[in-house]
Amino acid sequence: MQTINRLEDLRKAVDALKIRGKTVAFVPTMGALHEGHLTLVRQAHRHADHVVASIFVNPRQFGPNEDLDAYPRRLAADAALLDAEGVAVLWAPTVDQMYPEGYATNISVSGLGDVACGAARPGHFDGVATVVCKLFNQVRPDYALFGEKDWQQLAIIRRMARDLDLTQPQVANIIGVETVREASGLAMSSRNQYLTGEERAQAAGLSAAMRRAIAAIQGGADVAQSLATLNADILSAGFTSVDYADLRDAATLEAIETFTGQSARLLVAARIGAARLIDNMGVGLK
Ligand code: PAJ
Repeated sequence: MQTINRLEDLRKAVDALKIRGKTVAFVPTMGALHEGHLTLVRQAHRHADHVVASIFVNPRQFGPNEDLDAYPRRLAADAALLDAEGVAVLWAPTVDQMYPEGYATNISVSGLGDVACGAARPGHFDGVATVVCKLFNQVRPDYALFGEKDWQQLAIIRRMARDLDLTQPQVANIIGVETVREASGLAMSSRNQYLTGEERAQAAGLSAAMRRAIAAIQGGADVAQSLATLNADILSAGFTSVDYADLRDAATLEAIETFTGQSARLLVAARIGAARLIDNMGVGLK
């Protein structure tokens, strides 16, 4: 695996991979890799001849009081994991390369970026859309893989790619990958490292509470009532607060007040200890 931190070297490396019509699948990350990330890499191999990954802790997607400084950084260990998964190129730019002096452009996906995590973290999805657009233009992959763990992020990236003509054949075909969970049901996340052992056990209560709410909603229970119960269940599992617990249309992210079997997603963000955890699950007809 080549680890590259200059754009001109990246372009040469990707051109070399794409020789004779070979295809490239891209897995963007912020590092502190876990099985969720590695599953994206394994899926990427199934779609393309070569896999390119990136590690960049993107300051533009962190709010002023968020965990940018505390976010785990361990490039050498991450590089070894990616190498072992057969990644051809690791793109690891510096902040100055990504946003040189005078950088001024922002990409904002309105509507989709304003609800749920967008309401709780103003500017977050602008930062995500901006960096992902830049990464797509830098790597120019045939496929790009994102986890359903970050459902709203995936919906926003799909919309941005369509709106800005970044989808294939111009740039990337976007592929969503199912959330990878611990045996306890806890969705894997780099931020789980902020949890103590006790908090980690409590955090498993989130997915269990979500499954109960989904069973109730699918069984015809009132949506608002089921979400209120979910809220209370999350708090009694040991979370200190719930940023949101919403039932939304899976693609438009519009709030759903009455469930009639439409394609829906239960989306939750809640705080425990030093961590803000998110999770989401599909809600469909049984
Ligand atoms: P990061 O949180 O490092 O996640 C990188 C990718 O891994 C994302 O597509 C995310 O959805 C996926 N992922 C994380 N945990 C997962 C899990 N348990 N199961 C499946 N996939 C999982 O998301 C970001 O970085 C950044 O916002 C980024 C897109 C790289 C832009 O900076």
